Amino acid sequence: MTKNTHDLLALSDLSRTEMLDLLDLAVRLKDQTRAGVCPQPLGGKAVGLIFHKPSLRTRISFEVGVQQLGGNGLFITDKEIQLGVRETIADAGRVLSRFLDLIVIRTFHQKDIEELAEWCDAPVINALTDLVHPCQVFSDLLTIREKLDTTERIKVSYFGDGNNMARSWINAAKLLDIDLWIATTPETHPGKEFLENAMKDAVGKVTITDNAEAAAENANVFYTDVWASMGEKDKAKERARIMEPFRITEKLVAAGASDCIVMHCLPAERGREITDEVMEAENSVVFDQAENRLHGQKALMMWCMGEV
Ligand code: CP
Ligand code: NVA
Repeated sequence: MTKNTHDLLALSDLSRTEMLDLLDLAVRLKDQTRAGVCPQPLGGKAVGLIFHKPSLRTRISFEVGVQQLGGNGLFITDKEIQLGVRETIADAGRVLSRFLDLIVIRTFHQKDIEELAEWCDAPVINALTDLVHPCQVFSDLLTIREKLDTTERIKVSYFGDGNNMARSWINAAKLLDIDLWIATTPETHPGKEFLENAMKDAVGKVTITDNAEAAAENANVFYTDVWASMGEKDKAKERARIMEPFRITEKLVAAGASDCIVMHCLPAERGREITDEVMEAENSVVFDQAENRLHGQKALMMWCMGEV
């Protein structure tokens, strides 16, 4: 019997029901892992981990996750396969699927992973592109569920660059009843076309504003990310100039709900998008978020492999 495998190139590849069911699965997998029990649905499977950008959390959580699920991970940098350089993505994709059962890839252009997925029989997981970072936001929803007991009817306020993180939050608001606010400058808007497409038939709501105080008011979740992402560090100086009002400070957080939490996907540039005090405050959950990458991605890998 052929398994029902799936690519995960963006959170919009999941239906609302799949998203909710996979969050339940992630909770169960986390409990089992902590109890020293782990199902091994990837037993005997080879998982390619292709990274064209640096990574701490994503690479290690995927490698450990693959190991815990019984599979073997192969870490592959851009020096080896040189996707689209030594040969076309179509040729590389067809060869890779002869060896690998699952491909996890972090690269620059979303269109490259779309093309790879088109030519690969093996399912493909987006481990971050310039466009979106679905594994991060999926795992963050697990953290929110643990801390706030719900992933819906909450105000999630994202401050800073309208980048891959902001766009993945928009995709989350498509599926879940989230009141998402993105406080950013007009120059760093996440993209009108992306927003319009994502919001067709959306369950949640998105407000883009340049008013950080309005976004902070009664927010349940404060979220931020670096002002200049990997591959665009040349913009760091200009971003530091225009993004100052969107830094998460103690004063900003004070306007949030009394039980609000503070999140950051990490790595953080302390003192820029978030202050040291806020990172170290009691309601900061940034390291729980990092841990949950492992449990969230195990659920996502099982879905991609048709094991749920
Ligand atoms: N948050 C995240 O994806 O971290 P890495 O870049 O270290 O993988
Ligand atoms: N926006 C950041 C996220 C890092 C996890 C980047 O792409 O560099």
